[in-house]
This record gives sequence, C-alpha cells and structure tokens, in this order.
Amino acid sequence: MASRSDQTILVTGGAGYIGAHTAQQLRTRGYDVVVVDRLSNGACPAALVEPLVRADLQDATALDAVFQAHDIAAVIHFAASIEVGESLRQPLAYFANNVGGSLALLQAMQRHSVRALVFSSTAAVYGNQELEIIPETAALAPCNPYGASKAMAEQILAEQAKVGAVNAIALRYFNASGAAPELGLGERHQTETHLIPLVIQAALGQREQVSIFGSDYPTPDGTCLRDYIHVMDLAEAHILALEALLSGQHPGFAAYNLGTGQGYSVRQIIEAVRQVAGQDFQVLEAERRAGDPARLIADPSAAQAALGWQAQHSGLERIVSDAYRFFQQMFEPWPR
Ligand code: UFG
Repeated sequence: MASRSDQTILVTGGAGYIGAHTAQQLRTRGYDVVVVDRLSNGACPAALVEPLVRADLQDATALDAVFQAHDIAAVIHFAASIEVGESLRQPLAYFANNVGGSLALLQAMQRHSVRALVFSSTAAVYGNQELEIIPETAALAPCNPYGASKAMAEQILAEQAKVGAVNAIALRYFNASGAAPELGLGERHQTETHLIPLVIQAALGQREQVSIFGSDYPTPDGTCLRDYIHVMDLAEAHILALEALLSGQHPGFAAYNLGTGQGYSVRQIIEAVRQVAGQDFQVLEAERRAGDPARLIADPSAAQAALGWQAQHSGLERIVSDAYRFFQQMFEPWPR
C-alpha cells in the first residue's frame, strides 16, 4: 500500500456534520482530502473543508473534473438528505438525492476506475424490529423514505460488488451525536430536528421549550430509546473501514452497525442536558412523531470483529458535554 500522504480521499458531504469530522481526522492521519458538497444544509466553516468543490453528485461534468484533477484512491460518501420527517413529506426528493446521487457517484467511480467506497448508512434501514438489540442480519424494514433510500443504495453497492466493480463497506449509524468543540466542529443544521441539539438550545434559552414526541411507547419510561454514538467514534470507524478497503483485506460488500449497544430514552437525554447545563427548561409532552420506531439499539459486535472498531467517546455525559460546549462557542443565535 502506498504511504498515506500519497493517497487522496474524496469525501462527499464533507461539509456536513459527520463528513466534516471525518475529513478532519483523515487529514490528521496524513491523507489528502477533497470534499465535494453542494452546501445545501451543512454549516461547516468553509476554511475547515478546503479544498471544497461545490457541486451536486448528479452533475457528471463536475464529478469527472474532480476525478481528473485528483488521483483518488477511495471515496467516503456522506452526501445525502437526512431528515426522517422531511422524507415522509418529500419522498421523491429523498430517492432522487440519496439513490440518484449514489448511482451518479458509482458511475463516475466506474468511469475513473476507483473501486473503494465507504458508504454512510443508517439504523433507519431496520425500521421497527422486535429485537432488543439489532444485528446486521436483521431483515431490513425501513419505515420511512429516508431509511428506504439508504437501504436501496446499499443494495446497489452490494450488486456492484458482486460483479467486482467496487469494494464497499456501509456503516449503519445509530444516533450520531456529540461534537469536537476543540476543532470548532459540531452538529448544526439549518433546520434542527435532532433531539440533543434541540434540548441544548432550550437549556441555553435559545428555544422556549422542548417537546417529547410520544410518551406512550412500550419502553421503560414510555419514550423512545436510541443508541447515541459520538461523532468522533463514527469518524474513526470510517477511517478503519477505508483502511480495510485500501489494504485489500475487505473485498466485496458488507454493512456494519455503529453504536454502543446501550439505549437511552428521550427523558434520559433531557435529564443529561439538565445536569451538564445546570439549567432547567420547559418540557412538553407531545404526540408521537410519524416514522419513529420505539427503540433502535445496535449490536456493534460485527464492526469490532471485522474492523477492530469500538466506541471510545460515547458515554452519555461525554456526548452531551461536547455538544453543549460546541453550542456555547457559537456566537450567532441558532436558527429555529
Ligand atoms: N425527539 C423528541 N423531541 C424532539 C426531537 C426528537 O422527543 O424535539 C425524539 C424522537 O421522537 C426520537 C428521539 O428523540 O425518539 C431521537 O430523535 P432524533 O430526531 O434526534 O433522531 P432519530 O432517531 O429520529 O434519527 C436519527 C438520525 C436519522 C437516522 C436515525 C436512525 O437523525 O438520520 O437516527 O435511527 F435515520
């Protein structure tokens, strides 16, 4: 294998939340990174993602120019639409961007003989499962267009791998969370829908209240359980997956869960933010949000066995305090 400084990695969606953390960690490890991002939602400061090509993945001319200008060894593909609720309202947009974008990227990779791809997938491919802890062998049953679009993209990768056109690893994140405030990186979406940022905004007085979406779920405290995984642990998993592909040790296609195996309820998250912030705030009980499974908790053992990956930064207190510190650093009020 060539030395890392000789290797250039194309990161699509590298100005987004998980993409920016991963791009930064790649650079720390000595890789050259080129980011392609259409900047439709990610709010990463541009200086942190240079060199950046602002383009949609379905712009074949722009993608060809990137592959021609750089000797790309592998691609990490984050660029996607990511909001479950929005996907229920605009399914076509989700299939167009997430499936169409992945197809266009694979076609460009094929034109330029690039064969290694790490794909940003999601626990949303599982939908509602009876299982307490979900292994990768669970039948995929996405319950919203976002999850369905990611499952379709995975299937396309698996078929491309079968014919030897690509070697690919899909990483199914459970609930990405936390931040790297020391690097100026964190979760900031133009329209915020994620629980931890919303609760922190309430604790900082930037939002009047926070709503619990459903308190009648069949869970210990009636609120949904999620497996929260620190974004720096996600970044590390992408680098391990990339290196498994580049070393030739991981031919074909496989998907791995990225989670801790531990679930926290919405109420537990609210309490953790109260503790970290030392602030109380108004909490309302609201209706269930459409498309939300009651529980989503990973069995992360396959990623450990295949990639040597294990969560290191994903204790709840660490996740919430890193996210809180990132928010405190922001001078501008957050969009509501
Ligand atoms: N929630 C609230 N109130 C809010 C926001 C969220 O009660 O104001 C609840 C949700 O109902 C859910 C939990 O908090 O039960 C977590 O919600 P998030 O929106 O933070 O995250 P999701 O679990 O819905 O979605 C995340 C990612 C998706 C991914 C999914 C996979 O954002 O991209 O995990 O599980 F598909």
